[in-house]
Amino acid sequence: MISRRISSALAGAASLALVLAPMTAFAQRAPVEAEHGMVSSVHALASEAGVEILKKGGNAVDAGVATGLALAVVFPYAGNLGGGGFMMIHLADGRNVAIDYRETAPATASRDMYVGPDGNVIKPGPGSSTLGWSASGIPGSVAGFALAQQKYGSGKVTWADVCEPARRLAAEGHIVTPGTAKSLRETKKFSQFPESKRIFHAGGTFLSPGELWRQPDLAATLTRIQKSGPREFYEGETARLIADAMAKNGGNITLADLKGYQAVERTPLRGSYRGYEIVTMPPPSSGGIALLQMFGMLSPYDVAKLGYGSAAKYHLFTEVMRRAFRDRAEFLGDPDFVNVPTAGLLDPAYITGLMKNFDPKKATPSDRLAPGNPAGWKPITQNLSPLARGNVAESTETTHYSIVDAAGNAVSNTYTLNGAYGSGVTIPGTGILMNNEMDDFTSKVGVKNMFGLLQGPANAIAPGKRPLSSMTPTFVLKDGALFLATGSPGGPTIISTVMEIISNVIDHGMTAVQAVDAPRYHHQWQPDALVHNRFSMSPDTAAILTSMGHNLKEGENLIAGDGETILIDPKTKLRHGASDLRKPDAKSVGY
Ligand code: GLY
Repeated sequence: MISRRISSALAGAASLALVLAPMTAFAQRAPVEAEHGMVSSVHALASEAGVEILKKGGNAVDAGVATGLALAVVFPYAGNLGGGGFMMIHLADGRNVAIDYRETAPATASRDMYVGPDGNVIKPGPGSSTLGWSASGIPGSVAGFALAQQKYGSGKVTWADVCEPARRLAAEGHIVTPGTAKSLRETKKFSQFPESKRIFHAGGTFLSPGELWRQPDLAATLTRIQKSGPREFYEGETARLIADAMAKNGGNITLADLKGYQAVERTPLRGSYRGYEIVTMPPPSSGGIALLQMFGMLSPYDVAKLGYGSAAKYHLFTEVMRRAFRDRAEFLGDPDFVNVPTAGLLDPAYITGLMKNFDPKKATPSDRLAPGNPAGWKPITQNLSPLARGNVAESTETTHYSIVDAAGNAVSNTYTLNGAYGSGVTIPGTGILMNNEMDDFTSKVGVKNMFGLLQGPANAIAPGKRPLSSMTPTFVLKDGALFLATGSPGGPTIISTVMEIISNVIDHGMTAVQAVDAPRYHHQWQPDALVHNRFSMSPDTAAILTSMGHNLKEGENLIAGDGETILIDPKTKLRHGASDLRKPDAKSVGY
């Protein structure tokens, strides 16, 4: 009864919006179609590296490793050996697997390590969680790729085979694209780190578009890892170079930290939305829980009927995001360290309760949400007040790629250095750029991190702990068969982007490219702001939303993301690659 009343009120708002707002229009382009395999990534050369391995007989997992390693060479912005991430694997026999290769905090890490003597969080620079030697967690990418390939690779190509495209790109060089040249030139991070300046700013002369860029140190590192195996990174010459440089420069990562690092396999989260199954990343990602909560909250409403781009739909989606992001801040952290009440948070009755005070005509201020109390939650006695104010930080860091092979195995992989070019530090002699993932922990309760995210005590720093992430590599299945592989970069906006891409396909019947190209918007509870891309919302719609009490913020890059997506046409089984127009070098390559 209640939900029928809400539905009809929403439908009323929708018809008003349909009268006032023009249909949001965007260009139609064709997907890249392929019969056998497809790799969609942020850089054409990395997609080609994956396809090279598929053509050699490797499966999606083998290709996923090759693509990830190649991105460390051609996309230093986020591709990495010095970071970490999550790989979701869907196997053609129906199994789904989550590989967690998130960075961990070093053994000397402690809860208040980034709080200065004045009680404030240390500003970017020495001792900070954002810039320089102390900002890095122990990298997980090499271990994660190795675990994925050893356990779920085809067995037809070797570790050395999947390292080869990346090694070749580093040793023989690749042509710098205008996008890479511009991005490298514009980053200010390298100026105080001589090794980074030498490599990524060509000693101050900068790389030019069209130039052949060789990275001999990175090639040597890749050769060591290729020849001696992935543990070389953690126990061999590479580990020694990392630990020595850290010790010399006030960093925290030791040889013992590196030796102790383990990627782990976790059980994916599963949920459903309008007859489709959603398979997604569990904690320490917050993305999967938030995604399933949001779809749970949307389920009672006829989103298609509300109309794409209507004020009623923006309102509903905003309220759903607001509630999921509140729970993210309050309840989520590394499940190996804190009690994460996953089942309670995904209980349908709890999700229905989250929307109890949803008003179809009015925004719910973020500080007026009904307190959440999921079953299984043991409160941590530290409140999230005072509430953070200010802006959602602009950021398009991190990178995602999706892969489907001829047999129907698939990979959805999101990995990161955290901020663009991570901590700005390159380990001398290795070509390895390091992450600044420690900033994804709660540096101080009630203080925003670099994404403007308010974080809770569940995500406090502890040795060996993984920081809470928003990375949301996801599969959508229909009747047990893979339908969609998707994900995105964008810090907290990742979760909204993934939700919107999937909803665009399921609710609005969009093609993969329409779903990826569509404008994006985001609300993360705190700050209480609905952010949307410039030019994406009509003034009429904006006026309706403002009158409902929403605080609108528009920006060019606020919710850029990069939704590298593959859809499998259920009838033809053709793979539709949808790379994101927002990234100049992104490309889906199929065969
Ligand atoms: N480093 C961004 C995230 O993991 O959410």
